[in-house]
Amino acid sequence: MNAVTVPPDAPQFLRLDGRASTIVFEIAALGAPLWRYWGQRLDDDLGTLYRASAVRPRPTFALDGDFPLSLFPTFGLGWFGQSALLAHREGRDFAQDFSQCSIKWERPGGAFVATLNDPVAQIGIETSVALSPLSDLLTLKTRLWNFGAAALDVTSLAAGVLRIPADATRILYFSGRHNNEFIPYEDDISPALWRRENRRGLTSHDCFPGALVFGRGACNQTGAVYAAHLAWSGDSVQTIERLDDGAAAWHLGEWLAPGECRIAPGAHYETPELLATYSDAGFDGAAQNFHAAIRARGPWRGLAPAPRPVHLNTWEGVYFNHRFDDLKDLAQSAAAIGVERFVLDDGWFEGRNDDTTSLGDWRADRRKYPDGLRPLADYVRSIGMEFGLWVEPEMVSQDSGLYRAHPDWALALDRRRAVTGRNQLALDLSRADVGAYLFEVLDGLLSSMPIAYLKWDHNRDLAPASGADGRAIYGAQTRGFYRLIDRIRHAHPSVEIESCAGGGGRIDAGVLARTHRVWTSDCLDADMRLAMHRGFLQFFPPEVMGAHVGAAPAHATGRSHSMAFRAMTALTGHFGVELDPRRLSAADRAGLIFWINQHKELRPLLHGGLVWRGQDQDGLVWQAHGAARDFVLIVSRTAPAARRIAAPLRLPFAVPGATYRIDEIAHAEQGVLPAAGTELFQAMRSGGASLRGAWLAQEGLPIPPLAPASAALFRVKAS
Ligand code: DGJ
Repeated sequence: MNAVTVPPDAPQFLRLDGRASTIVFEIAALGAPLWRYWGQRLDDDLGTLYRASAVRPRPTFALDGDFPLSLFPTFGLGWFGQSALLAHREGRDFAQDFSQCSIKWERPGGAFVATLNDPVAQIGIETSVALSPLSDLLTLKTRLWNFGAAALDVTSLAAGVLRIPADATRILYFSGRHNNEFIPYEDDISPALWRRENRRGLTSHDCFPGALVFGRGACNQTGAVYAAHLAWSGDSVQTIERLDDGAAAWHLGEWLAPGECRIAPGAHYETPELLATYSDAGFDGAAQNFHAAIRARGPWRGLAPAPRPVHLNTWEGVYFNHRFDDLKDLAQSAAAIGVERFVLDDGWFEGRNDDTTSLGDWRADRRKYPDGLRPLADYVRSIGMEFGLWVEPEMVSQDSGLYRAHPDWALALDRRRAVTGRNQLALDLSRADVGAYLFEVLDGLLSSMPIAYLKWDHNRDLAPASGADGRAIYGAQTRGFYRLIDRIRHAHPSVEIESCAGGGGRIDAGVLARTHRVWTSDCLDADMRLAMHRGFLQFFPPEVMGAHVGAAPAHATGRSHSMAFRAMTALTGHFGVELDPRRLSAADRAGLIFWINQHKELRPLLHGGLVWRGQDQDGLVWQAHGAARDFVLIVSRTAPAARRIAAPLRLPFAVPGATYRIDEIAHAEQGVLPAAGTELFQAMRSGGASLRGAWLAQEGLPIPPLAPASAALFRVKAS
């Protein structure tokens, strides 16, 4: 395509149009394009636009010249905000001025690459910008070249810099811990720098690499919302900073440890991708854009996956207590209730009876499996299920054959104590020999028996991730993981993979470009899961959200919930069972069969479509999945009602002019409907209830009484 060297005076603009959003950059006389607009889609004809310098009054006590936010703002020559790049050569070249810029359209009106050059510091930058016409996903990525004669130390490099208008004043972000992921928090954008850093070496339970920024009027289905997320499974940093003109600059990138990023002369460094979106349809609008993007970027590349098979995962049913005959029996009991994929979790390999040993020795334990794993895999297949296997490839136990043979393969810092987590060390995936060994092991397992699915775990944060030369290699570790998983997927394209890291420690768009689902959390307490799912769905679609029905009481919290509540909470995700069905009461077993069948019937609507979420002021939360004219609605009560009568639930996306039939499929305990009460509620159960779309959107759907920790499931369909 045409490379345009920017002329010094003629105002030129770069306009990108998405489905419902528009971005406008101004080509600057010197340097990177300036951010001029990101928001609702604009008219085709923008009329006369003036240069930023022509519309921005000059403040007092300011440098001579105007310094609006650019695509790549850098410190040193008049920009006092966060710098997209901090770098130096032995203390020199610390200030950069990317005065030369050329633009190349990759897709006219949709994607371009800005190539920047600082001829003094001898650094080149290439920033790719693309706005999807389908999902409104804005993708940014940056490459840095060292054209100088000496190594360049990079302290930080933003994957992208976003401009958020002045009336967006709030930040919604997610934090958490093992067993309680995706907890929402809100902050104001204030004069202080807002900054989040993840330094745990993988995505982390604590510091989700993304957030949403919005004005006071935004809510679930309405209002302007900006959302961003770094597609990266390692360390990350994001900052939001108010600028002189009231707008805010939002930077996201890889967090680099001291000395981690030293670029040799002629070499380059590439950031992870930054995914962002604008929606004027509230938080759900932003979520729907991200869902479309994750689907397009994921292993199915935008095609609908096969219906997500119902899992039984052995972990909470048997833990490390593996016995071949007992597992056959467990598999049999799973098949009998309708399970479609049997996943053998931790405990199957040589010497692994608890979490203190054996990681790295990926051979079946002959005391538990005298003839290896294949007979179990074959048996599982013979009774109609797929076979899945748990692995934790990046880890090694100090008490293992692998560690005894290759102690130098573990990440450690020379002359420092080894820091273990769950009694284990992590292997150095930046090493080619480690990558080759792990490929051989995994390839061997996948080639030797019919494994349809790998649960790929990672049960610790990285502490000192340093290579043999003592330099930090956090980023190289993540890149090594990506290389390994890409190689496995290339060699075994039909095998599905789950990303797990003690539950939700590695959930991000980087890993979800390579894996088919994630394990959302080790916590199966339905009440807590309900909240976690709502946070998760802000960024990721339901079909990749591992969601299992656990035992009562829940192993993580000791709290008990009914089978119906547990199942209705798991129902919307990639559904599964994580308990021993042989230990269920007859009523709970019947209930579980009912819910597995419900899930199978409803999964075409639950997965692949749109998701809306909402809450009332009195302890009710709801989730709708499907399409505006045909959807599944789950209403859950999380807290006892303070009001005698629940207010009708407004469903703002219902289509005015359509007449909806409302069927209450299940309510409260075990799928058995309690006394209905009013005429409408009775009609909802007998298939006779109907309401107009405008009424559902404006006045709302009357909701039958719900006890705390219970839920009701509806199918709502326009005739
Ligand atoms: C952590 C995972 O999140 C669990 O589901 C289970 O696989 C254990 N690891 C096994 O060690």
